[in-house]
Amino acid sequence: MSVNSTLSSKKAANALNGALRVPGDKSMSHRAVMFSSLAEGTSHITGLLEGEDVMATLAAFRAMGVQAEGPNNGDLVIHGVGMRGLNAPKVDLDMGNSGTAMRLMTGILAAQSFASKLVGDASLSKRPMRRVTVPLTSMGARCATDDNGCPPIHIRGVERLQPISYKLPMASAQIKSAVLLAGLYADGETSVTEPAPTRDHTERMLKAYGYECDSEKVNDQVTTIRLSGGGKLTATDIDIPADISSAAFFMVAASIVPGSLIVLEHVCINPTRTGVIDILKAMGADIKLLNPRAIGGEPVADIQVKYVGLKGCEIDPNLVPLAIDEFPVLCVAAACADGQTVISGAEELRHKESDRISSMVEGLRNIGVEVEERRDGMLVQGGAIRGGTVESYHDHRIAMSFAIAGGVCTDKIVINGAETVATSFPNFVKLATAVGLRIE
Ligand code: S3P
Repeated sequence: MSVNSTLSSKKAANALNGALRVPGDKSMSHRAVMFSSLAEGTSHITGLLEGEDVMATLAAFRAMGVQAEGPNNGDLVIHGVGMRGLNAPKVDLDMGNSGTAMRLMTGILAAQSFASKLVGDASLSKRPMRRVTVPLTSMGARCATDDNGCPPIHIRGVERLQPISYKLPMASAQIKSAVLLAGLYADGETSVTEPAPTRDHTERMLKAYGYECDSEKVNDQVTTIRLSGGGKLTATDIDIPADISSAAFFMVAASIVPGSLIVLEHVCINPTRTGVIDILKAMGADIKLLNPRAIGGEPVADIQVKYVGLKGCEIDPNLVPLAIDEFPVLCVAAACADGQTVISGAEELRHKESDRISSMVEGLRNIGVEVEERRDGMLVQGGAIRGGTVESYHDHRIAMSFAIAGGVCTDKIVINGAETVATSFPNFVKLATAVGLRIE
């Protein structure tokens, strides 16, 4: 599973060709582990992402007494303990690099009768957590961050939570989910109103585990999600499709390396996740969705990408939450496009595993790309990619994005701090080399 801490990416000898299946969706994998653990009965999960982030979530539930077999090749069996069946952990719960794990777990743990402490690695320990502890505290939870609003999060036991109607201050599926998960334990109806659509895997998966959860569109952008506390989750079998955020690296690779034609198999194309397709199409990419089908309450398709050459564009800020994790690799697409690309309304990128605006601006400059940094995005001048050494700042998506840039560089690109690729995409180098990228 481990990847060397330095990757080196050379100009692809040939076009990229072939069919590949990238690992299971990370957001769905976290939620499947959480819901199966809290459900009554035994759940069988297939297609689970065996990345370090999801393993941190699984380890946390094991530390609270949940029995599970696996994972083996994406198969995991979890014997749920029910909504009130978790035991007090004897150790700090280490969420590693994962913001999703920490924020969603805070929602669950805030409603337990025992105390717990959530910790993370150096990157996670610098990420903002008041965005979840503030609404949870208003539900009666007793949880606190450090003085800077960062982990560790100390949680004390509570008897009951009160429901709230919460207006999200920003479009964030993690905050929405943390409040909804705490809402499962509240006395009455909890609602969350989001200012723009965000990934809705929590809502869809709650329904798959038999929990009622309603979404009501206020208008085109705004949705309110409601659920009532006190219900139960029922074990189910769940098949997790491939992660569009991992597929995105290859969608961009095939769009920038002349002559490429690839098919990404069995990818989740939930409309709250397909911003990357819309943005690449706006840049002129040739992307086709083949064999659309539904798997476990989520739309799935095979995605065919054929090289045609990209043109720069002004990315619609409304698409930002729908492609939030794909911006690093979209910056690489922009660097290879004809003309300028403008990214705006994307300040949230500064609060990811690294400050993804400054990490990408610095790295792109190091490999010869002209970029202007802006508070909420950047302007990328498309052209040739030379090569050079870049820092990934231990951010998996920054490392993989520059590995993709290696497909078109005139010299080689050396990427430092690439070991975190294993958090979301353990077999990235293997799959990338199988379709024709040259990565060491
Ligand atoms: C996620 C939500 C997004 C995304 C993250 C996964 C989730 O974060 O960036 O990788 O699974 O809910 P925000 O909610 O902070 O935007």
